[in-house]
Amino acid sequence: MPGGVNSPVRAFTGLNMTPLMVSSGKGDTLYDVDGHAYIDYCCAWGSLILGHSPPNVIHAAQEQMARGSSFGIATPYEHAFAFKIMHHFPSIEKIRFVSSGTEAGMTVVRLARGFTGRSLIVKFNGHYHGHCDSLLIQAGSGVTHLPQASSHGVPHELVQHTVSLPFNDTDTCRRFLREHPEVAAVIVEPVTGNMGVVPAEKEFLQMLREETARTSALLILDEVITGFRVSLNGAQGLYGITPDLTCLSKIIGGGFPVGAFGGRREIMDALAPLGNVYQAGTLSGNPVAMLAGLATITALEQPRFYESLEEKTRLLTDPIQEVIRERNLNLCLNRVGSMLTLFFGVKEVKRKEDLHSLDLEQFQNFFHFLFQRGIYISPSAYEAWFVSSSHTDEHLLYTRDVILEFLNREYSR
Ligand SMILES: Cc1ncc(COP(=O)(O)O)c(C=O)c1O
Repeated sequence: MPGGVNSPVRAFTGLNMTPLMVSSGKGDTLYDVDGHAYIDYCCAWGSLILGHSPPNVIHAAQEQMARGSSFGIATPYEHAFAFKIMHHFPSIEKIRFVSSGTEAGMTVVRLARGFTGRSLIVKFNGHYHGHCDSLLIQAGSGVTHLPQASSHGVPHELVQHTVSLPFNDTDTCRRFLREHPEVAAVIVEPVTGNMGVVPAEKEFLQMLREETARTSALLILDEVITGFRVSLNGAQGLYGITPDLTCLSKIIGGGFPVGAFGGRREIMDALAPLGNVYQAGTLSGNPVAMLAGLATITALEQPRFYESLEEKTRLLTDPIQEVIRERNLNLCLNRVGSMLTLFFGVKEVKRKEDLHSLDLEQFQNFFHFLFQRGIYISPSAYEAWFVSSSHTDEHLLYTRDVILEFLNREYSR
């Protein structure tokens, strides 16, 4: 395997250490092949909101595996799950399941172009929507450090139909959208995870909604991370924004490979077999994954699930934020619900441009300090950390103390 891994960020590039090799996970804890335990704040990149191996999800998946793991034919489980998601995301009038977030992002771009008959896509610097060619410019996650086209092999002719603008810069974006009525769609992470956690300002999202509506361009919210993470109704519920299309993945798969996209009926009807925009998938709507997802979302519907997840997260973050504020440290902790990032070397992060002075060396020290003490955070300075409902107060308080110890050591006056 190139780099020894099946996805680049797992190689721990920039951390100067042997990558972790995991054998199992239970609750909030990962176990590596040598038997070391780590409290996990990556949680499969935000997928595992219930933690590792939740019994209800395992049970649902196992039951379906005994009935058959894949058919390549419609099943009632897809329908049940579709209705469940649409109930919580009223902007989704029709949905289609795929197998990853990349597939969802790739298809919404094609669908937006096919539906509007226009080519130009607007995205934002530092936002990552999977590795589809059209969206690999100024992208976040594993390619945050690369300028412009984020990968060799992406033809210039293709990315010239994509424009990347500064996030949360309302005036620049409004001006661009007014001068370019030929835009097919604007795609945005409403709370970014792929340059670390950075929430959209409410007026920025409102401006995007108004300006796209004016020219009949589509507004696409990439809720691959935020969907069912920041609330039961995603970021669109939190911000009160109704997009034309939404991408989902991660949490809806209950730990299995699932993505989905959906939105306004008339747009979705442009997809084959009803329309002429082609999209397909052998394993799409896989029944094991559908039932794992259904069991996961059902657990999230329990009263006070999100309130208590946020309370747990604040056990960890509030005291750290207080120390940063009181001692005026050159750090910034951004948090929305149970997703967070501690940025080193910057006092405020509202957009990718704020990350120029990010202290990568200090992040490396920090990562090792935590790792040596049995705590695993996402292995990059440009990623989000996630708290799950299985994180125990004891582990959260332990993590808080370790982080405060690091701050005391590194920033003592
Ligand atoms: C916001 C966002 N969109 C799309 C993707 C791509 O999803 P996948 O890795 O499942 O292809 C990711 C992956 O992290 C993501 O965070």
